[in-house]
Amino acid sequence: MERTLIIIKPDAVQRGLIGEIIARFERRGLRIIGMKFIQMSRDLAERHYAIHRGKPFYESLVNYIISGPVVVMALEGTDAIQAARTTMGATKCSEAAAGTIRGDFGLEIGRNLVHGSDSVENGQTEVALFFEESELVGWSRDTDRWIFE
Ligand code: RTP
Ligand code: MG
Repeated sequence: MERTLIIIKPDAVQRGLIGEIIARFERRGLRIIGMKFIQMSRDLAERHYAIHRGKPFYESLVNYIISGPVVVMALEGTDAIQAARTTMGATKCSEAAAGTIRGDFGLEIGRNLVHGSDSVENGQTEVALFFEESELVGWSRDTDRWIFE
């Protein structure tokens, strides 16, 4: 079963969309195995976005993600990476399909509300970057058999 790291970014927190965004992943069937409300340090943000270092938007991206508190969530499920990303919508909000988080709530790429891991390997690495193993909860939901075949 795949794991993905979701970050509800500072713009979404400031706009009061935490509950709305969690509800969409919850409804999708992804199982929450970790969740916390944090103020990311610059050091953590730079490690998380290391892959984008050197790109023209890197500085503003790091400043954006540390501009206020965020909610980080570790989610688990069948094809969790792809499922979460389709629920999020395209990176550029103006191109994101209606019905997705970015398509329903965003306009700009630099205020795109949510992060989700982009590969199985990055899902594992990113969850480990934000959560100690002791902060993750291994559990089964009573509804799992109605969501996972
Ligand atoms: P994320 O990592 O946040 O889930 O987003 P993503 O995979 O859809 O997009 P990615 O290519 O990984 O880019 C990371 C974040 O950087 C900002 N960005 N700005 N101005 C630009 O051209 C630009 N490109 C990317 C976005 O906030 C994007 O989510
Ligand atoms: Mg990405």
